Amino acid sequence: MYPFKQGSFAPRNGWYVAAFCNEIGEPLLSRWILNQPVVLYRKADGTAVAVEGRCPHRHFPLGDSKRVGDAIQCGYHGITFGADGKCTFVPSQTTVPGVLSIRSYPLVERGLWAWIWPGDPALADESLIPTLQEIGYRLDAGFHAQPFYYTHVSGRYQLLNDNLLDLTHLGYLHGGSIGTADDAATPEVRDQDARRLRSRRTMVNTPPTPAIRQRFGHEGLVDRVSGLDFFFPGFHAGVGDSWVAQGLPDAGKPLADSRVWHAVTPGTRHTTHYFFAMGSNDRDGVEFMVDYLKPVIAEDVFATEAIEKIISTMDEVPTELMLRSDTTAVMGRRVLQAMMDAEAAAQPS
Ligand code: FES
Ligand SMILES: [Fe+2]
Repeated sequence: MYPFKQGSFAPRNGWYVAAFCNEIGEPLLSRWILNQPVVLYRKADGTAVAVEGRCPHRHFPLGDSKRVGDAIQCGYHGITFGADGKCTFVPSQTTVPGVLSIRSYPLVERGLWAWIWPGDPALADESLIPTLQEIGYRLDAGFHAQPFYYTHVSGRYQLLNDNLLDLTHLGYLHGGSIGTADDAATPEVRDQDARRLRSRRTMVNTPPTPAIRQRFGHEGLVDRVSGLDFFFPGFHAGVGDSWVAQGLPDAGKPLADSRVWHAVTPGTRHTTHYFFAMGSNDRDGVEFMVDYLKPVIAEDVFATEAIEKIISTMDEVPTELMLRSDTTAVMGRRVLQAMMDAEAAAQPS
């Protein structure tokens, strides 16, 4: 499936964000993840769990069923499943066939996020989840981190990854808020390892973004560093730092200091869960940005959904025209394709 090879959708053996931790509570939360219906909830002891969202009897949605203690009782004929997925009760008979079990998924809470492993549970290695240190999430009292928005996007997930891997769009799609023309005109420095793909732009003596002007009343030039680390397969941890430019009174004075986190999780083949969160030493700044960034994220969602509409509606979509600035996005696509190829190769034929 575009932009991947025919037959490729998404890597399954990887940690994806299933939900912000604060979305998971006592009520059953239904969410499609990599084309599978999943139910998330918190047991009485506070542990968050993820189980299959389809009853194996007649496919009734378990997310629309009933909690009985830590178990789920199917809303159709009452078959009951424990939080580990094992069937515990069948109302119409005294025996409980093991085959009636549902799948339970590895789920780990770290930082603001609950991470799910949709693939082979035997391969679910927690050390593959980005560490808080790696994503710039600090636990000291001066640092404030906050989930901002969960958005259900009507577009395939890779359109959002491509968006985040090409920040030349900041000065155009978001020209009125978080970007300037220098975001596109400044060369990127990239670095890739087995866990993540990093891209950074350092802008010196550059005009302030509208966000900096509005938040700090600063009209003079600034120095800025901007970029994201793409942790495979679906988490982007970014920096957006700026200082008063050299040569001005107050040169080097910090202005914005933010860590931004975008989690991109395939829902179905043509829908995506998009989780945006932010952290900073500047608590007031985070609170300012909650409202400020709402229309900015809506611009990315608009672009994603509008592109999805075009590529999934046209009879034939011409090959896209690539620019040098697409290098990071292409590198990101290659990593995901390689993960999918490795999974396909490991499947028994
Ligand atoms: S469909 Fe769930 S018990 Fe029948
Ligand atoms: Fe954007």
